[in-house]
Amino acid sequence: MARERRDPRPTGTSRTGTSRTGTPRTGAPRGGTSRAGGPSRQQPSSGRNQPRPTTPPAPTTRIELTFLPGLGDVLRDEVARVLSPARPATPVPGRDDALVVTLTGPVGTVLADVRRLRTAVAAFVWLHFDVPRPRSLVSGDHLARIVDAVYASLRAAGSSSFRFEAAGADSAVFARLADELRRATGLAYDPEHGELVVKVRRGTARGVEQRANQGAAREVDPGWDVLVRIGPRPLSARTWRVADFPGAANATIAAAMVALAGPRDDERVLNLMCGSGTLLVERLLAAGAAQAVGVDVAPDALDAAARNVEAAGLSRRVTLLTADALAPDSWLPAAGGAGFDLVLADPPWGALHGSHDDAERVHTGLLRAAHDVTAPGARLVVLTHEVKVMERCVRAADALWRAPQPPVRVYAKGHHPRIWLLHHL
Ligand SMILES: C[S@@+](CC[C@H](N)C(=O)[O-])C[C@H]1O[C@@H](n2cnc3c(N)ncnc32)[C@H](O)[C@@H]1O
Repeated sequence: MARERRDPRPTGTSRTGTSRTGTPRTGAPRGGTSRAGGPSRQQPSSGRNQPRPTTPPAPTTRIELTFLPGLGDVLRDEVARVLSPARPATPVPGRDDALVVTLTGPVGTVLADVRRLRTAVAAFVWLHFDVPRPRSLVSGDHLARIVDAVYASLRAAGSSSFRFEAAGADSAVFARLADELRRATGLAYDPEHGELVVKVRRGTARGVEQRANQGAAREVDPGWDVLVRIGPRPLSARTWRVADFPGAANATIAAAMVALAGPRDDERVLNLMCGSGTLLVERLLAAGAAQAVGVDVAPDALDAAARNVEAAGLSRRVTLLTADALAPDSWLPAAGGAGFDLVLADPPWGALHGSHDDAERVHTGLLRAAHDVTAPGARLVVLTHEVKVMERCVRAADALWRAPQPPVRVYAKGHHPRIWLLHHL
């Protein structure tokens, strides 16, 4: 992995400081880079043989993206689609829940684009420092880089406080770093609940190998990494989720289901057993749709769905129906008839909204009902914790549905559900 260049302003942000009152202020840019990350103004040429002014390279920003283990491929594809990096995102060495990608352009644009990712849990500006211990981070240039990254995060989405995630975060060294950051940014330091997360950790081992390969036989100190989260909350915390609903799907998993299906602007979308509407909202935020319908048997689920859909600004595009999803005849006329192109579902699991004993009937019924209301070529995407049951049901329904790929295994809060993508035969 390429190391950060030693330019003290690698994120392309302005050199920043604070006034005496702690109000953020901006200072003079350094290093030939303008505040916006573009070229600085050139002095007029005074002679014929003056060297021609060169355009400084576009600023680059290294970003770490975390994800739920199992969704790395989906996130990598989304990064390629949304951010078009010069080189694809790659795994962070030794981690199964993080990718790294280097993006080119003004940092404000880069961070705004990163915030559009829907399958990432969180995003961080990643700075590397060739220092032997965190104590050195408070020195002038190092601190300026960290402050720049904090400012870039604040411009992308405001925070009022910060905290560290680091081994020894309660030590005197971090108290001093907190003090310096507090003074430089005007943010409050709240070790427990700070909004803006600043991670400090050892550099990755790969840096050590690269240096060793350059001929030096001895091990090189991997230095320290500082990662500044983009935004006060993880990307996975959706602002549209205003209604708490037990058993609601994780939004990044829902976004991954949508990505696996490949949303199309003109399709009719159906969310069976929609609960509080997570899959429906994530689908509609990913692309347009000719129609969007949610069906659930529980009125309190649909109340929650209506609130979330409204908070997402989607009320006019969604129809919510109280009905037994497994009996399409009872709700199909209100849903505009058969011929849906995409069906999304995460049926009950455990004892929360159903029972394990009932899982076979529910999954079989779901495959049947979804087939009845779709046309050949339609896609069905199912998230379920009832893995063995679903395997049996998909095998038994092989005349109705074909799985173009193996199910995707996700790791979420101690559970390991699968995402099945199925094509109507
Ligand atoms: C796991 S929850 C869905 C959670 C939802 N994706 C969300 O994010 O809130 C399962 C839902 O299936 C609904 N359900 C169970 N059996 C049903 C049936 N036969 N017809 C319609 N809905 C049903 C439950 O009411 C519950 O809301």
